[in-house]
Amino acid sequence: MEFTGKVALVTGSSGMGLAAALRLARGGARVHLCGIDEAADDAARAASRGLAVTLHRCNVADEAEVSAWVETVMQTETGIDILVNAAGIQTYGSLDTTTIADWDRVMAVNLRGSFLTSHFVWPHMKGRGAGSIIHISSVQGHTNQYGVLGYATTKGAVHAMTRAMAVDCAKHGVRVNSISPGSIRTPLLEYGATQLAGPDGRMEDMLATFGAAHPVGRVGTVEEVAELVAYLCSDLAAFTTGADFRIDGGLTAYIGV
Ligand SMILES: NC(=O)c1ccc[n+]([C@@H]2O[C@H](COP(=O)([O-])OP(=O)(O)OC[C@H]3O[C@@H](n4cnc5c(N)ncnc54)[C@H](O)[C@@H]3O)[C@@H](O)[C@H]2O)c1
Repeated sequence: MEFTGKVALVTGSSGMGLAAALRLARGGARVHLCGIDEAADDAARAASRGLAVTLHRCNVADEAEVSAWVETVMQTETGIDILVNAAGIQTYGSLDTTTIADWDRVMAVNLRGSFLTSHFVWPHMKGRGAGSIIHISSVQGHTNQYGVLGYATTKGAVHAMTRAMAVDCAKHGVRVNSISPGSIRTPLLEYGATQLAGPDGRMEDMLATFGAAHPVGRVGTVEEVAELVAYLCSDLAAFTTGADFRIDGGLTAYIGV
């Protein structure tokens, strides 16, 4: 899939965001990738050496920072063709244990952040007659584990936001879709595996347990998700909008009884 001449903004400088940025840049796009973590940004800079990927510092939950990021991009670009919202955080907690601070934090990054980037990108996309916005949601927007009240709520809301944006943006030629991954090996999943393994457990054992819960018998890779991102950004997906795509190794197709 060919993205020569296209301008892409991608949030989240590690995991799926980085993989999407690399995939789009390898297809010829000029990519502006934002993160908030210095170590992740440095690693992304090293991974993208030789490609047209520019790293930016931006907290997607902060209106002023998102506005400034898009303004900075527009100093060197004449429009924006692609937006991939992959920045996200995972919080754990049930109704008993979810603090109001955790609720607000996860809403701010996973939901408000994806709205803010879309809001500030939109004026630079809508006049071009074509464009693709992709929100990385989660299988947890469809069905969920115990103890993910705030996180799952954001991911379900992202599905609704995707549909609502898709309907409004269609007449401008802009398509809006979401992707719902199962377990994908990224720093976020490794963090979750470490938390669940506890002080005496091993992260690798926990990742193998996650993998075994998926009918294909393993967790997914960021490159597999990046290929789906590339397809949805390409003209091959010209009739596809308002949809959610599960990339989950059969996880949500399976009833474990
Ligand atoms: N890894 C999985 O198994 C999995 C499964 C389903 C959904 N997801 C979702 O995929 C998305 C990408 O996560 P990932 O697994 O690649 O994890 P990741 O931790 O590698 O990537 C998330 C990135 O977002 C950045 N980020 C966090 N808060 C930010 C903020 N306020 N502003 C800007 N950047 C911020 C982090 O620094 C990190 O670089 C997330 O929305 C996550 O919820 C992940």
